[in-house]
Amino acid sequence: MEYELVIITGASSGLGREYARALAGRTRTMVIAARRRERLESLAGELAETQRGLNIVCEACDLADPAARDAWADKLQRMPRGRTLLVNNAGLGDYGEYAGAKRERVREMVQVNIAAVAELTHALLPRLIGQGGDVLNVASLAADVPLPDFALYAASKAFVASFSEGLRAELRQSGVRVLAVCPGPVHTEFGEVALRRGQARREAPLRSWFYTTAERVVQESLRALEKGCARSYPSAKVRLAGCVLRALPLWLLRPALNRRPRRVASQPPEAS
Ligand SMILES: NC(=O)c1ccc[n+]([C@@H]2O[C@H](COP(=O)([O-])OP(=O)(O)OC[C@H]3O[C@@H](n4cnc5c(N)ncnc54)[C@H](OP(=O)(O)O)[C@@H]3O)[C@@H](O)[C@H]2O)c1
Repeated sequence: MEYELVIITGASSGLGREYARALAGRTRTMVIAARRRERLESLAGELAETQRGLNIVCEACDLADPAARDAWADKLQRMPRGRTLLVNNAGLGDYGEYAGAKRERVREMVQVNIAAVAELTHALLPRLIGQGGDVLNVASLAADVPLPDFALYAASKAFVASFSEGLRAELRQSGVRVLAVCPGPVHTEFGEVALRRGQARREAPLRSWFYTTAERVVQESLRALEKGCARSYPSAKVRLAGCVLRALPLWLLRPALNRRPRRVASQPPEAS
């Protein structure tokens, strides 16, 4: 068994659920967290059928709530000792100009995409360093480019990628591997959650060609973690896009960002 304990945030749908399926055979205990308990319980039932002997703990936790995060982090300290994998996957977006965002959504994104990743990792580091383990942080291809109409989301993922790189260097001698996963678009509930009320979104013509499946993101990123890579860009197209975006200087990128195609209709600021 590779891990004694695997912890996955945002396991109630999309990539998190796929990480749980892929990792169920590689650990003795798995903690799956999200707000929708019934979804977690149904996933736990599915995993229990395929992986006899797997101990599954469902944690209904609102990661946007600092007090709930603290309480959960305390509980995690009492989990069985041993090699641990932390998958910081929970996250959400918000399509449209920042001026039109709801204040609650702004707060939620900062709390879930940034604060929860920083705090949960911090709470588990003594265990990871002392007992062994790895950290897999789900960032995004958006980490590599500032994105108008998705400005806070892209910035929050730039935080995840940068944080992962710095932490990885700090932990080099400890044997704890840190991976930042940078997927391109994936069909999950993400797009639906990111839409504002009454908003319709036009897909960019190239975007549908660009999609990767959740299964592929998970398989490629877990292979990258095993190899000790710093980043994973699942699928060749996304890898190429990442290379191009990282090579482009900002002065060249800015004019393109200023003339970006509008994928969402401009809306007045939503009431907070
Ligand atoms: N799909 C894409 O195109 C794409 C591309 C690049 C990166 N990503 C990243 O991939 C990760 C997973 O997203 P996904 O595509 O799988 O989207 P998803 O299907 O919407 O899943 C998001 C997960 O995050 C959880 N979550 C959201 N807010 C939460 C909160 N306040 N407390 C606890 N859990 C919360 C959700 O659970 P509950 O709603 O049950 O709480 C859900 O399990 C995210 O970090 C996202 O930014 C996605």
